[in-house]
Amino acid sequence: MSSSFQLDTATSRANPTPSPMRRLTVPALRRRKQDGVTAEPIVALTAYTARQAQLLDAHCDLLLVGDSLGQVIYGLPSSVPVTLEMMAAHGAAVVRGSYHAVVIVDMPFGSYEASPEQAFANAARLLKETGCAGVKLEGGAAMAPTAAFLTQRGIPVIGHVGLTPQAVNVLGGYGARGRSDAEAAKIVSDAQALAEAGAFAIVVEGVIEPIAIAVTRAVACPVIGIGASAQCDGQILVAEDMLGMFERVPRFVKRYDEIAQVISGAAERYAAEVRARAFPGPDQTYQPK
Ligand code: KIV
Repeated sequence: MSSSFQLDTATSRANPTPSPMRRLTVPALRRRKQDGVTAEPIVALTAYTARQAQLLDAHCDLLLVGDSLGQVIYGLPSSVPVTLEMMAAHGAAVVRGSYHAVVIVDMPFGSYEASPEQAFANAARLLKETGCAGVKLEGGAAMAPTAAFLTQRGIPVIGHVGLTPQAVNVLGGYGARGRSDAEAAKIVSDAQALAEAGAFAIVVEGVIEPIAIAVTRAVACPVIGIGASAQCDGQILVAEDMLGMFERVPRFVKRYDEIAQVISGAAERYAAEVRARAFPGPDQTYQPK
């Protein structure tokens, strides 16, 4: 698709609005993988704000309002304390800031694990309050009945296997998963259980390449990798990581820019000008007409 259009930042909409304005759909993304082959890989990034969504939307097939916003936006130590209210507020902002990509919102820890009914009530709230197209939830075979329950009731689901950050207290950290044969086999069977339950895509995170390839081959739906393999059916990254907002990022992240330096450089120059009473200058001062 064309990536050249103008954005009207007052309305958060593309301007001129492409006609006919059509957002990608979950079934269209699911159809990217046919008989085990994905001709066009799925491009996905996280987004948490309307402006960020405006900038990323034209280039992405899928925007994920990830619960990584706990660390990235709120400075929390993990995604465990993230609430449904946070996800709803940021999900609505990202939907308002986009018109093309499928927007998926993460279900936060504690909002879906107790029962399929709990998951449905909270996922339905996310769909109603944000306008998102579906939800993502972490966990393997144990979450398959929940994925089926939601899908059969009109809520598209992305599964998430391998390194599942909400389980950090059980895993003991964010290291790569699937180090033993048994754990590797479990990751593949988890993905299969979710796919068979109706998940329209699976995120596989933090696994060595052979496991990512095995997962991608084992399921009919698209597999989106993060810290996994270029052979997956698509890729996702935390946008701030690939933009260079943080000094420390996981080893698998490629930085496409150094935005932290740009921001702190601008703040440094602004501070110097204020201290030197050089701002506002004549160009920024209101002048009588
Ligand atoms: O929360 C998140 O950002 C994720 C990733 C897959 C990027 O789940």
